[in-house]
Amino acid sequence: MQNFKSITEKLFPPSYQLIDGTDEIFEINFALWEYENLSKQDLINRSAYFKSVEGIPTVHCQTCDLQNLEEIHQNSSLRTKAFFLNGKYSTGYATHSLFPYRGKFHPQMIRALLNIIGVKPGDTVLDPMSGSATLSVEANLLDIDSVAVDISPFCGLMGRVKTFALNLDKGKLEQITKEQGKIFEKLNKQKAPSYFVKDEQDEEKSYYEIALLAFLDAMGFARRSSKSINVLFPIVLNRYISTIRNFQTAREKLGLKIGSSKIIKGSALDLPLEDDSIDGVITSPPYSFAIDYVDNDEPQLKYLGYDPIKLKNSMIGLQGRGIAEKLELYFDMLDKVFAELARVTKKGTKTIFVVGTNDIQTKGVRLEGKIKELAKGQKFKFLSEILKPIKGLQNTMKEEYILIFENAK
Ligand SMILES: C[S@@+](CC[C@H](N)C(=O)[O-])C[C@H]1O[C@@H](n2cnc3c(N)ncnc32)[C@H](O)[C@@H]1O
Repeated sequence: MQNFKSITEKLFPPSYQLIDGTDEIFEINFALWEYENLSKQDLINRSAYFKSVEGIPTVHCQTCDLQNLEEIHQNSSLRTKAFFLNGKYSTGYATHSLFPYRGKFHPQMIRALLNIIGVKPGDTVLDPMSGSATLSVEANLLDIDSVAVDISPFCGLMGRVKTFALNLDKGKLEQITKEQGKIFEKLNKQKAPSYFVKDEQDEEKSYYEIALLAFLDAMGFARRSSKSINVLFPIVLNRYISTIRNFQTAREKLGLKIGSSKIIKGSALDLPLEDDSIDGVITSPPYSFAIDYVDNDEPQLKYLGYDPIKLKNSMIGLQGRGIAEKLELYFDMLDKVFAELARVTKKGTKTIFVVGTNDIQTKGVRLEGKIKELAKGQKFKFLSEILKPIKGLQNTMKEEYILIFENAK
């Protein structure tokens, strides 16, 4: 038999070890890009797919390894625990695991994309349809500043908690643990107490927002399981606190510098941002033929005191009846998003759209093709695309396109 070598052995020298589980083509592609384009020091500090470089463990690998997932998930169900242990380097690290928002980005992939678009500490990246603010968390971990805009106030809450929790006072966190019984009594009403709900960032209230998000997480969990919110709230809250405390320890040990975040409730069609103020964009538009974000989050939105119907009227992807009209309105809105992105990004900066595709639901219309046309119409130059399969039987999307554009205004 000829000497057999795996693809990764052929691509990388033995002293460059990939993160465990890096086995999909798109991941190996990203790893190769990192190997060919980052300096040795940047590979150690910023790479998403390397475990060690010439014997030195990378920051990403250490950040994940320093978190004690066994401790964090000691009271989680076996299923939840297995999910996070399997996603140790891809989804479950830092504060990404707080709240399971459907359709969120793969954080490890976002790290690779931040490297590809070339943003550095001091730069500001934007996600104009930010959901649970995965881009903000990942950018902040690399000391890059970020702006997250989402029309949903519930997403605003997720974004504030996840970014705030990257850098907080551990003592005040312990206070929440001690007060959890009293906090539960206040939260366990038909509607959130008014002092809990706000749309701006405020340090003092942010500690209580951690408990509020845990409560809303437990509320969703209780709907899907046979357990009541009384049983689930302490489990979820303690998992949140343990996750945050664990990350804080890793952050201190590794001396990580954390970038700053602005979390804004607003519309991607009319961004509350200055012209030429943004150094890079990574986003994923709602694709509501697959996920109706308002229906999905309805109990939580109502509890927070928002009218889901009103919110639906300003949501991309939820307008119109029948596939043809829905698609027309969807593309009209995305055209406006590209016009806004052209305005707020600096010339030459990169914009990435991650687009799920399932042409059975759209009666043959390929979203990625139409999105390329819209971008071109707003003077974005198309640079390249990467195909990423979506795994899991429950997903109606079978693949995602990662489309990379450059602002050529
Ligand atoms: C695919 S999700 C984004 C998920 C995100 N990438 C993450 O990692 O969590 C799309 C988001 O677009 C938001 N959205 C819908 N219409 C919007 C609008 N007009 N302006 C801003 N955001 C909007 C939805 O609330 C939803 O959170």
